[in-house]
Amino acid sequence: MNGGTESAQGAKKLLDIQNLHTSFFTHFGEVKAVDDVSLYLDRGETLGIVGESGSGKSVTMLSVMGLLSENGRVVSGSVTLSGRELSNLPEREMESVRGNEIGMIFQDPMTSLDPVFTIGHQITETIMKHKSVSREEAKARAIEILSSVMIPSPSRRMGQYPHEFSGGMRQRVMIAIALCCDPDILIADEPTTALDVTIQAQILDLMKDLNKRTGTSIILITHDLGVVAGICDRVNVMYAGHIAESGTVRDIFHMPRHPYTWGLLKSVPNPKRIVKERLVPIKGQPPDLLKPPAGCAFAPRCEYAMKICLAKRPPAFDIAEGHAASCYLNHPDAPRVPDAPVRAGV
Ligand SMILES: Nc1ncnc2c1ncn2[C@@H]1O[C@H](COP(=O)(O)OP(=O)(O)O)[C@@H](O)[C@H]1O
Ligand SMILES: [Mg+2]
Repeated sequence: MNGGTESAQGAKKLLDIQNLHTSFFTHFGEVKAVDDVSLYLDRGETLGIVGESGSGKSVTMLSVMGLLSENGRVVSGSVTLSGRELSNLPEREMESVRGNEIGMIFQDPMTSLDPVFTIGHQITETIMKHKSVSREEAKARAIEILSSVMIPSPSRRMGQYPHEFSGGMRQRVMIAIALCCDPDILIADEPTTALDVTIQAQILDLMKDLNKRTGTSIILITHDLGVVAGICDRVNVMYAGHIAESGTVRDIFHMPRHPYTWGLLKSVPNPKRIVKERLVPIKGQPPDLLKPPAGCAFAPRCEYAMKICLAKRPPAFDIAEGHAASCYLNHPDAPRVPDAPVRAGV
């Protein structure tokens, strides 16, 4: 665990992102992929970041990790890890943060396992890169970590290549690599998207178990609100580079206060399948981030949009402690908020 001096108030906040703006500079202009995002992760908790494809989930986390592509840049904002500012760290120190303090499972399969090296080699190399240990010690640690992610016969598996592993087993190996230097935080970007439902449930159980057993804090990125219900403590709903709504899992599933969250709730199957229901996809497309709308980014798709929504971006309205929604329907002078769909059994 990372020590450091923290005020009593901020003692629990492990990662704190404040007013992050990240853009990509392209031939067509500036793509504002992350446009004023603030969120935090407490020690020991599991945080979900949910939103449709293109909402800025991956770019937010790649900004934290200092891993943006060449045309991407953090334009402004602050990212602190246990109170230490990360956004201006030299690359060498950032490399150490990436190995030792934050482990990430990437969405992009190109950055995943290397087909020409054995699994054992890949884990051992990662450990030796970040820790001053002998090859023998690194091997022993690799076997231990493979066994902790429930890979059967880990010693034998060390000598095998990625193609000898099933999709679910490869994902376990990815988690093992992200965890092999005991990071405080595991960021898992869509870790179950390519897997079938049964394997998906096993991987989520594994992460939940890791969080309980080791206290590793987790950020789980997904486009599927159903996935966060069973594993997360809190949720940030992202839309077009902003946080639309944030709250506990209960807040988001039982008292959602943003029409985009309502749309997501109606478009995913109930994770507990208590009631049979019709799934309704959200109509329309997210805005073009090269020309973001002046008002609320969701307004063009929102059936409750008012005049102000088209003109002015809504601030985050506090609904209750720890629950906020960036939607004018929560303004005291707004018309009564319609009954939101809620989920039973979450
Ligand atoms: N290298 C890049 N150049 C230009 N635009 C990019 C680049 N990478 C991502 N984007 C844009 O940033 C936005 C957010 O992307 P991303 O964070 O990957 O979304 P997601 O929520 O699906 O993870 C998208 O509009 C995407 O097209
Ligand atoms: Mg993504």
